[in-house]
Amino acid sequence: MTQRILFVCLGNICRSPSAEGVFREIAAQAGADVATDSAGTADWHTGKPPYEPAQEAALGRGYDISDLRARQICPDDFDRFDLILGMDHENIAGIEALRPHGSPTPVRLFLDYLPGGPDEVPDPYFTRDFEGALDLIEAASKALLASLD
Ligand code: 4NP
Repeated sequence: MTQRILFVCLGNICRSPSAEGVFREIAAQAGADVATDSAGTADWHTGKPPYEPAQEAALGRGYDISDLRARQICPDDFDRFDLILGMDHENIAGIEALRPHGSPTPVRLFLDYLPGGPDEVPDPYFTRDFEGALDLIEAASKALLASLD
């Protein structure tokens, strides 16, 4: 059955579209049956493509994320997805604030799939370390893929 996975960050222009782009590519290469999307807890960048430096860094590793457009997460996402992954603890709080009463959809930190390392993907919009963020995103994407049935 298709596994529907939503990646979430704050602005939906750096970390979560990068995670979506990396994960959808390695999942496609593996022939995995997944559907992906990404969203932000904030609505500031709705309709915009990923931040240009994030696009360039991803493309440098073979991931074209230019087709993605930012949107804000909404309560319906708890029905539309089987798993919702936040990039940091603040994202998790923002996601959980929207959980419809009784919804069982799991919400986890993306880096929970990488035990022993950091638990948050540092925001390259502020750190400017786009390569470091991609290193974590690639490793967590592989671990996430390996965790699927
Ligand atoms: P993201 O990074 O949550 O990884 O997309 C950010 C992008 C933009 C802003 C904050 C975080 N902003 O303040 O506009």
